[in-house]
Amino acid sequence: MTFSARLPAERSSNRLTRAVQQARADARPLIDLTESNPTRAGFEYPSDLLAPLAGDQSLVYEPCAFGRLEARRAISHDYARRGLSVAAERIVLTASTSEAYSVLFKLLADAGDEVIVPRPSYPLFDHLTRLDLVTARPYDLEYHGSWSIDIGSVERALTPRTRALLIVSPNNPTGSFVTAPELDRLAVLCADSGIAIIADEVFGEYELRAGAGAGAGRTVDRRDVLTFSLGGLSKSAGLPQVKLAWIAACGPDTAVFEALERLEIICDTYLSVSTPIQLAAPQLLERAPAVRSQIQARVAANHRQLVERAAMMPACDVLRADGGWYGVLQVPSFSSEEELVVALVTKAGVLAHPGFFFDFPRESYLVVSLLPPCDIFAEGLDRVLRHLHSTAGGHD
Ligand SMILES: Cc1ncc(COP(=O)(O)O)c(C=O)c1O
Repeated sequence: MTFSARLPAERSSNRLTRAVQQARADARPLIDLTESNPTRAGFEYPSDLLAPLAGDQSLVYEPCAFGRLEARRAISHDYARRGLSVAAERIVLTASTSEAYSVLFKLLADAGDEVIVPRPSYPLFDHLTRLDLVTARPYDLEYHGSWSIDIGSVERALTPRTRALLIVSPNNPTGSFVTAPELDRLAVLCADSGIAIIADEVFGEYELRAGAGAGAGRTVDRRDVLTFSLGGLSKSAGLPQVKLAWIAACGPDTAVFEALERLEIICDTYLSVSTPIQLAAPQLLERAPAVRSQIQARVAANHRQLVERAAMMPACDVLRADGGWYGVLQVPSFSSEEELVVALVTKAGVLAHPGFFFDFPRESYLVVSLLPPCDIFAEGLDRVLRHLHSTAGGHD
């Protein structure tokens, strides 16, 4: 059989996955500091939260390429709640943010065209681009006490085949928002080259301190460059299982109009967003704060713990983060990151992600999810720090 070359040739599991599988097979308990599924992190979901999915209206199928207008209006109102203005007619529903990327790659790129993606960032970009036959070229985020975009690396990544610039704000895992001046500079570059901006803002409502995201650029206000802002219930309401995300198309009116005409063909081909979730969307958005506020409090509290506890280990440093669900710990490089995360599983009973999963340019970093319950997070972190301490002892 011949299979598509879009799929990776190397499909065997990595050492970390094998170590985790072995720990589970041996029934060795593991504290999972990579857990990023909010439905498994001990939050209280109102028991009737998903009742609106079961209404009688769901028995009728009325296909609609961009999704039901009521659902799109509810999303438009939700933007308004945040002081942002997006007309419902410019909102396109998708089943997930991942699907939104795929839809936008189909809209903007032909096979072999390029999109430029931040580094370090979300590991799924490799697969998302590859599956749509698009090449991902990285641009760099630099850390100097806080993260910023290396605009020179953006310029260097641009080629005649570049079709889109991806930004993630706040970024996974660096927790950095794209600032207003950065967005302005990127917009000029993109407008000059006829390139669209795809802005992943799924973590947009998660600030690690009050006001930490105040300086973020407002992508939906752009009028100079075609910009697609992505959001979804998976993060904003802690409901990844209901499968509802959206694209807000912004920018010059003509470009938005032309994009929407073409998006309609793509979305009409798949019609992937279920009717029950479209009908439930207005109520779910209204009740999202019940879960979102718990997540906001948890990630902020865990980030404070991370900073406080790591401060006790002289060789460790928590990188500054302003938003999102992740923390980054810079640790001494006594061994490779891979050796370290495998040893953490086998010897310390704790699972953390190595920086190289996110394409950090050098070692050694650990990335931890800030979602676990605070006591579990604290215990996991202590295990990491104790392990690093004992390893450092061996190197004295
Ligand atoms: C930056 C970023 N975008 C998108 C997603 C996935 O969102 P969805 O569940 O809507 O596909 C994630 C998931 O962790 C993410 O980190």
